[in-house]
Amino acid sequence: TTVEWEAESYDMGGHDTYMHKEIAEQPDAVDRVLRGRIDDRFATVRLGGLNLDARAARGVRRVKILGCGSAYHAGLIGAQMIEELARIPADAEPASEFRYRNAVVDPDTLYIAVSQSGETYDTLAAVQELKRKGAMVLGVVNVVGSAIARETDGGIYVHAGPEVCVVSTKCFTNTAVAFALLALHLGRIRDLSVADGRRIIEGLRKLPEQIGEVLKEEQRIAELATAVAASKSMMFVGRVRGFPVAKEAALKLKEVSYIHAEAYPASELKHGPLALVEPAVPTVAIMPDDELLEKNRATLEEIKARSGRILAVAHEEQQKADDTIVVPRNEPELDPVLMGIPLQLLAYHTALALGRDIDKPRNLAKSVTVE
Ligand code: G6P
Repeated sequence: TTVEWEAESYDMGGHDTYMHKEIAEQPDAVDRVLRGRIDDRFATVRLGGLNLDARAARGVRRVKILGCGSAYHAGLIGAQMIEELARIPADAEPASEFRYRNAVVDPDTLYIAVSQSGETYDTLAAVQELKRKGAMVLGVVNVVGSAIARETDGGIYVHAGPEVCVVSTKCFTNTAVAFALLALHLGRIRDLSVADGRRIIEGLRKLPEQIGEVLKEEQRIAELATAVAASKSMMFVGRVRGFPVAKEAALKLKEVSYIHAEAYPASELKHGPLALVEPAVPTVAIMPDDELLEKNRATLEEIKARSGRILAVAHEEQQKADDTIVVPRNEPELDPVLMGIPLQLLAYHTALALGRDIDKPRNLAKSVTVE
């Protein structure tokens, strides 16, 4: 595999790993997914490759998003954004599960396949099965001209640029932003107001700079990672907008550091996983300043009562947490985008502290093109 890496001609740009380089590139990457797409006049976005006219878009009764790994997690964020901004029922499911369960394929559902590489076999097979049954299928893809991009009826390129590290960082973030664009577009041809459209556009424009601010916290996050590196297992919890962020952060940590991690909706803790909480199993709580903040604070108390250490990711210091990573405020619908960034750095620095092979974790491949 060393040969494979030498074949990659992308410059590391002074970084020790591609993962670090790709995390650092995110302000520019997000700038690219937005570029040329914002339409201030109608407070919406233009998505040239969508191939879904307004009449067809208005006929969509449901959205089903399919992907694997980080692409699936970005789809979970996308589904929430589509429900919130466009008020269309939406959910995400692992593409592999979908294709094996003989799913009911509905003509009024818009199916969206998500993939960095555009070559993941399970996702491609789901697309082909959907097409065979006459479904409307779009792609949210990074690699231009890839198999999934070609097989879908249209879609959105996420323009993250080449992602070399096996674990996804900048492409995950850009995919979440691409979904915000799609949600805004679907919302504005339905009932989302001009004022709300403008509010989201302003939020989107702030993202590159705010991601830059989060990246400046790297030194502190590296210090927090030393405690993570000494843990036998980790819990990641969040409610609604925080939950897909928790899932992705747990996956990232597992992939690069090999530390076991569980992700749970904070509300589910008491239905089982609270039994795991003890000093050697710290919790990361994703708790934006939204209508669920008080509920999340109550969760912190439950964890403290079991002597669990807590790291909060929040918009202000959390008294009940041992440490807080504070991220800038944006529009609540966009919170998942910013809250994921410090947790990429946490996974990276944990893996670094443990001497892991960061760009090429054991047992994993960048794209899984077999069944
Ligand atoms: C592999 C990688 C994951 C990735 C997933 C989906 O399992 O190890 O990091 O998220 O495939 O890849 P895709 O290219 O379809 O986004």
